[in-house]
Amino acid sequence: TRVAVLYGGRSGEHEVSLQSAASVVRHLDRTRFEVIPVSIDKAGRWQRHDLRRIEQTGDPALAIPPESPEVRLAQGADGRAGLVPLSGDQGRTEIDVVFPVLHGPLCEDGTLQGLLELTETAYVGSGVLASAVGMDKDVAKRLAGLAGIPVAPYRAFTRKAYERGAVSLDDIAASLTLPVFVKPCNMGSSVGIRKVKDWADLPAALADAFQYDVKVLVEQGIDAREIEVAVLDGDPPFVSVASELNPQPHHDFYSYAAKYLDPDGATVDLPARLAPEPMARVRALALQAFEALECSGLARVDFFLDRTSGEFYLNEINTLPGFTAISMYPKMMEASGVPYPELLTRLVALALE
Ligand code: DAL
Ligand code: MG
Repeated sequence: TRVAVLYGGRSGEHEVSLQSAASVVRHLDRTRFEVIPVSIDKAGRWQRHDLRRIEQTGDPALAIPPESPEVRLAQGADGRAGLVPLSGDQGRTEIDVVFPVLHGPLCEDGTLQGLLELTETAYVGSGVLASAVGMDKDVAKRLAGLAGIPVAPYRAFTRKAYERGAVSLDDIAASLTLPVFVKPCNMGSSVGIRKVKDWADLPAALADAFQYDVKVLVEQGIDAREIEVAVLDGDPPFVSVASELNPQPHHDFYSYAAKYLDPDGATVDLPARLAPEPMARVRALALQAFEALECSGLARVDFFLDRTSGEFYLNEINTLPGFTAISMYPKMMEASGVPYPELLTRLVALALE
């Protein structure tokens, strides 16, 4: 089976993707799969790479060699998906399945998935609808709320509404309590997120978030533990044990820096230290969210556990969660009895079903 591992991408999580992809490429079972690395650079250029060359560096992040041929995805006369070089005399590379190891807008948000549908290419993970919904933190929370999954209070609005004065910061300050988190609606890895502890800092935080998206959220900060659950599709889907992320006190919250730049940014409890009842509840909520948002393949579902009330609140659902060497999705699966290579084999098999 020829697996095109698609990595890089045009989003603010490009660098995270390079790390995720290196880890996926390393763990794909070579006795089953022919791995074809295909990168998307920040300008949106697709390139097909020679796996041996790319692996020579031994880098924890997959490189994008500039000299590799530029390609596009297209169906052949036989209807099969393949990578076609844009120039030169190299032939077409047929592929059986795409493994998108990409995060963020134009990667994880249904746009790429739409292209894969149009070209009738099999691919790992959620389809167009769930990908788009999962990327939009506002719509995801609304759908989850409709399914009875608790969601903490928040406000969402567009830049247009904000600029035309239709959003009252006084109303926001009256309806939420400090601290609040300001987030771009469609982003990942905490890019563009600020914790606001003084209402005077809200406009600057909004301006920052609006650099990344035309819609932002102001979320109620809660004194909470960060609990995550991994879901692997199947009949029925397989739900991992939960884990807990403990951002270290020198980080204000579980920020991009705490996640990826600081090796001591956070410690992990896997499994999370939860009594049997809350452990069962959060796993059930994760499955409920996976189904409510109509995900397929895989998802990592992130919750806040309110230290006061003991209630779980859905934070967000990640349809293409991080796969880096320190990422929680593969670790939670491993701790639940699904080793990394087997996880990848199952994901590819689900894509080909
Ligand atoms: N958005 C990052 C990659 C994650 O959810 O793990
Ligand atoms: Mg995320």
